[in-house]
Amino acid sequence: MPQYQIDFSPRLSGEVHVSTAKNAVLPILAAALLTQEEIIIHQVPKLTDVTHMLDILRACGAEVSQEEDSVRVRAVSVTSPKENALLRTMRASVLILGPLLARCGECLLSMPGGCAIGQRPIDLHLKGLQKLGARVEQEGGTVQVSGCLRGGNIYLDFPSVGATENLIMAAALTRGVTRIENAAKEPEITDLCRFLTCMGARIAGAGTANIMIEGVECLHGAEYTPIPDRIEAGTLACAAALTEGSVLLEGARTDHMRALLFKLTESGMICQEDARGLRLRGKARHPMEARTLSYPGFPTDMQAPLMVVATQTHGLSVFLETIFENRYMHVVELKRLGAQIRVEGQLALIQGGRALNGAHVTATDLRAAAALMLAGLIAQGRTTLSDPGGHLMRGYEGLEDKLKALGAEVKKVPSS
Ligand code: EPZ
Repeated sequence: MPQYQIDFSPRLSGEVHVSTAKNAVLPILAAALLTQEEIIIHQVPKLTDVTHMLDILRACGAEVSQEEDSVRVRAVSVTSPKENALLRTMRASVLILGPLLARCGECLLSMPGGCAIGQRPIDLHLKGLQKLGARVEQEGGTVQVSGCLRGGNIYLDFPSVGATENLIMAAALTRGVTRIENAAKEPEITDLCRFLTCMGARIAGAGTANIMIEGVECLHGAEYTPIPDRIEAGTLACAAALTEGSVLLEGARTDHMRALLFKLTESGMICQEDARGLRLRGKARHPMEARTLSYPGFPTDMQAPLMVVATQTHGLSVFLETIFENRYMHVVELKRLGAQIRVEGQLALIQGGRALNGAHVTATDLRAAAALMLAGLIAQGRTTLSDPGGHLMRGYEGLEDKLKALGAEVKKVPSS
């Protein structure tokens, strides 16, 4: 069980490289199942979620090899994985549904478990695939999706990121034209579409609410480097905002981070784009309001890290979480450090301006783990963060090392 020791680190400065985006790499790896030819993905971050996805690709029959930070996948023939335990380890395993259905006409999935932040249903994925002619049979915790697909028109009741990704991947190899309305517009969707286009897919409207895919007979191999991680960059930006930092986030795509950068700027930070990435100076001082929305709205994955910043501003901040039903579990842990936060349903009221004091805290989910590490930077004394679920390593490539490179007193310690 990983444990981290974080000491008061009032000043961060220096530069750090932003890793490639977990939430872009995962669907792109799943898309490798759509071709018999070799796929090479570069700058793949060392994350347990990526390791799990590579194991799932192998379970589907793909050959997978890694050379430094590049991954090679060749899925000559694919089948639905027999080993379902793997599929339960990670929500994003649902992303093999679209590719397997398009390649071999069947996919047997154990219903992905919910997780700490919510039920995480896949009804929108299944409904959309049924619009393309798929049959869906659910028995117990297993769902079987099968059939020979054809193009169709899909309207998503909610712009689900995963459902949009699954449907694009299924449609890319499905005869006919598929239109997805109310599609998700996240940069990771655009990146997946760019990768699929490199493979020979015909896609229009990526990054908009209306995406059109003209299915092709087959897709060919490709070599690709996904986009930088806007959530890792945002998390590091929040660390700078807490510590009156002077930080360069090398490789950050500020055009993917507008909502967060507006919040930090409104709160008193100086955020400047330059040729190498994003420069941040100063400290967040004024309270803020944040309502999580689908992209380009304020990202739900940044709600917990930004809440830590809000605890140090002078006044009352108001957050509204509209995407996941249970994404305030970091609040109890932040209150153990002395934060003054009140949750009423999906609303959180953060009374800022009070110093935090080090304590022992426990990570409940990925972004909560990152938020608690940030809180330890500005808590007086020492904070120990237990991460029994190994959440941090699921989604951040050495966050503790990156913060240390900026001058933070943080280290991973053998768990007691
Ligand atoms: C993706 O999850 C990301 N994960 C999440 O990041 C991110 O928080 C989320 O998008 C929203 O931006 C990956 O890309 C691997 P959704 P996903 O489908 O696709 C409901 C992180 O910390 N919903 O857009 O699962 C769902 O319950 C993770 O990196 C349905 O009701 O998100 C949720 O309330 C956490 N039915 C909302 O939609 C469905 O069929 C958003 O889910 C699908 C989703």
